[in-house]
Amino acid sequence: MTSVTLAPNQSLLPLTATTQAGHLTIGGCDLVDLVQQYGSPLYVLDEESVRQACRQYRQAFQTYYPGQSQVLYASKAWSCLAICALVAAEGLGIDIVSGGELYTALEAGVSPQLLYLHGNNKSRAELEYAIAMGVTIVVDNFLELELLQQLPPARIMLRLTPGIECHTHEYIQTGHLDSKFGFDPNQIETALEMVAHSQLNCVGLHAHIGSQIFELQPHRDLGSVMIKWLAIAQAKFGLTFTELNIGGGLGIRYIESDDPPSIDAWVRAVTEGVSDACAKANLPLPKLLCEPGRSLIGSACVTAYSVGSTKTVPGIRTYITVDGGMSDNPRPITYQSSYRALLANRMDEPATELVTIAGKHCESGDVLIRDFPLAAAQPGDILVVPATGAYNYSMASNYNRLPKIAAVLVNQGEANLILKRETYQDLLRQDYLPQRLQTPVLS
Ligand code: LLP
Repeated sequence: MTSVTLAPNQSLLPLTATTQAGHLTIGGCDLVDLVQQYGSPLYVLDEESVRQACRQYRQAFQTYYPGQSQVLYASKAWSCLAICALVAAEGLGIDIVSGGELYTALEAGVSPQLLYLHGNNKSRAELEYAIAMGVTIVVDNFLELELLQQLPPARIMLRLTPGIECHTHEYIQTGHLDSKFGFDPNQIETALEMVAHSQLNCVGLHAHIGSQIFELQPHRDLGSVMIKWLAIAQAKFGLTFTELNIGGGLGIRYIESDDPPSIDAWVRAVTEGVSDACAKANLPLPKLLCEPGRSLIGSACVTAYSVGSTKTVPGIRTYITVDGGMSDNPRPITYQSSYRALLANRMDEPATELVTIAGKHCESGDVLIRDFPLAAAQPGDILVVPATGAYNYSMASNYNRLPKIAAVLVNQGEANLILKRETYQDLLRQDYLPQRLQTPVLS
């Protein structure tokens, strides 16, 4: 199912996945043992896959881009202490989009100089917090630009909507013109003028065109669009920008037929776009930043569930139920995303049955995977869904008051808990019961 010659984002399972005595192992740990020890459902994150992805990004920039570069991890994909610390140890900075993500990155020990704050409606409190810490602010709109002028001087970038379309789910496209994010081409000159007359230390421009993108051309085009704006900023407004951030967006393989480009190919396309455009415009190469999320973390994680009941609707389909669902993986119900699964304790058995994996939530749409072949499953089997590292934990909910599930980081036979399973007490952590409701009312 996987091969080490693939880049992490092209591999369905984490890079270290192997089969031993019919069981799936990741990071040298048997999935069945992990579930026994840490319970189910469980996110299992492969440290080696994350490190490899970080290294491939950094290495490709060194190979293809003669200027300076900095890879940031888009922590919206999965923000927690261990992951922030892990990617920082690999030399990455972090893209944050809220005070909460900022707090997490700082608590993980990430240097504020490597943090970039995004968001289309940052609060004054979030801006003040970020500025006090020395974080770079990626300014999204005029209101924010005005607000920043009332606050202590900030290091900023401007976010543009470059007008580039890419083929991905409508909800995760962001660079086309009909977008809530960033300054449109018809607004950007006004924004540049405001910056030129302000105390703000504006170091460059940013754009992000969308997510789960398999084409390279949009990102190649992005380079030339952005360099054009860098040239205008300089020629018309005397603003010399030194940084350019071209966002994230590289896709990953969720199912066999997905065929994303490698990290190396993506970086090559992006850097060629920027280098060519700089040469044409006779501009020096800017420090080039990018901020991938999904392609750094998505393929590194699997979710392990326990199989429960089975229901066959004759002539229609067989449902196999697992002990999680839309609360730990909201992507199928939100974006109709496709996934695959395998049985960690039956790796040597052929896939003989066409099944549908249903979650345990009180909602008919809580289906993780539809009509795909699986080995004959029994209650208690461990069903593993690959490619659940990006936007699963980060969009997880407590729907039906299910406690959020635990996550372990595995590496060379060692497993460390990085997110504790919530308890029922945790679910009531924020609840108050007003005094007048405390005595049951008998009618
Ligand atoms: N930079 C900005 C400004 C972004 O908005 C995003 C993602 C990224 C970087 C990282 O993009 P990536 O490399 O992960 O594609 N919840 C959706 C994805 C939403 C993406 C939001 N922005 C999903 O589950 O597919």
